[in-house]
Amino acid sequence: MREITPKKIMEMKGKEKITMVTAYDYPSALLADKAKIDIIFVGDSLGMVVYGEQNTLNVTMEQMVYHTRAVAKAVKRGLVLADMPFMSYEVSVEEGMRNAARLIQAGADAVKIEGGYDHRKLVKKLVRAGIPVMGHTGLTPQRYLRLGGYHITGETEEEIEEILRDAKALEKAGAFAVVLEFVLADVAKLVTEEVKIPTIGIGSGPYVDGQVLVWHDLLGVYEHVPPFVKKYADLRGIIQLALENYREEVKEGKFPSGEYYWEFLDKDDFEKKR
Ligand code: KIV
Ligand code: NA
Repeated sequence: MREITPKKIMEMKGKEKITMVTAYDYPSALLADKAKIDIIFVGDSLGMVVYGEQNTLNVTMEQMVYHTRAVAKAVKRGLVLADMPFMSYEVSVEEGMRNAARLIQAGADAVKIEGGYDHRKLVKKLVRAGIPVMGHTGLTPQRYLRLGGYHITGETEEEIEEILRDAKALEKAGAFAVVLEFVLADVAKLVTEEVKIPTIGIGSGPYVDGQVLVWHDLLGVYEHVPPFVKKYADLRGIIQLALENYREEVKEGKFPSGEYYWEFLDKDDFEKKR
């Protein structure tokens, strides 16, 4: 069992901020775990940042299972959370249960679903069956088509009530935390005060119990990131430069130079690095 459990995440509320980042493969998950990130999250955002789709609607259970398996192999400490993709839990509670179990069997410690109130029965059954669940309200990207894009939430009384109702229903159904995505900071604060489970914000300001960001956004893999993301690195520039140097050196016959092929290799060193 990994060190960070849903119970520990719940106990962090009011004591220390919860950290969460997405990871979709083995090397990224290794680094995130080494950085002591609390929750390492295989988000369905992989449809966009890994597979180049316009939204998350094409993500399949198969993709989530593959990526969860890779991430789970790397993580020793953090909680491995896997996203339930579009239509994997909407049709029926039974289907949601079976799909959640596939992610758990791929190595996840918990699953995340978008929504709250509408899925309270599913959440309750999953928790009873031993599958910890995180909810997700505010902006729910799987409803992209109905919403007509990605917009800030919590601006109207109706939206505020809906977000509060979701968070409270999740708490009541036994979810261990809830993501608040792109919610007005004051509304996120209100929700955080109104529920006992931790709130984890993205684009929702500082008055929440934790923060989550997408790997590619926070590391600057792309030029364009959502405006609420702080880029902690500019990997794009670094990777681009490395690739251009590699190309140039091959074109110019500079790579591989002596040290990089068998006749010139230090054989003992080679054996050690294998
Ligand atoms: O899939 C994802 O990356 C997410 C986060 C934005 C919370 O759901
Ligand atoms: Na997601």
